[in-house]
Amino acid sequence: PMKPVQVKLVLLGEAAVGKSSLVQRFVNNEFQENKEPTIGAAFLTQKTYVEDKVIKFEIWDTAGQERFHSLAPMYYRNAQAAVVVYDVTRAPSLDRAKSWIKELQRQANPNIVIALAGNKLDLVNDAEQGLHSEEDGHDEDGHEDGEDMPVTRQVSTEEARIYADEAGLLFFETSAKLDLNVQEMFNEIARKIPIE
Ligand code: GTP
Ligand code: MG
Repeated sequence: PMKPVQVKLVLLGEAAVGKSSLVQRFVNNEFQENKEPTIGAAFLTQKTYVEDKVIKFEIWDTAGQERFHSLAPMYYRNAQAAVVVYDVTRAPSLDRAKSWIKELQRQANPNIVIALAGNKLDLVNDAEQGLHSEEDGHDEDGHEDGEDMPVTRQVSTEEARIYADEAGLLFFETSAKLDLNVQEMFNEIARKIPIE
């Protein structure tokens, strides 16, 4: 058997957009409804396959809270891949994602493969069919919901796709909760990594 190709991947994005949840889905196929914020960063590994090659992702899941921003360069410095996450129900999180992408394009490895992930797609899929109601009466931030509170999409698929195309990024809308496009995203990144 061939030795796995090691690929260092970093996750970046605003607090609470679901970075850790995407990693937990990809690595352990699990989802936690009320996940604690990451402190500093977490390290995990997971393998995936591209044709006959084994790709071993070495994943740095960074903390989104602003007080940890200064640590980020340590994690993206030698990264070959990055997943920059926003929340489709929160427009400001896309602005934050764009500023991470600018920072990566200025400071990270020039060949870095970057994917933009619009997470929490499950919330707007529900909303598009009518009203969304949370079983536990709390939204994803742990705040009390009104009854049948509709969750509206704040970032259209088209807007994000146009930006991603202009910036040369892979683009996916994902749900860590319902396991939508998570494996697909990591597989597509693996396929795009230049392997000698
Ligand atoms: P920091 O570590 O603080 O940067 O946050 P994070 O980006 O790692 O977010 P985290 O994965 O901790 O998720 C934040 C909250 O959103 C948690 O309560 C998750 O359960 C919830 N969440 C994450 N992904 C999804 C998703 O796809 N859908 C829904 N509905 N909720 C999600
Ligand atoms: Mg986290």
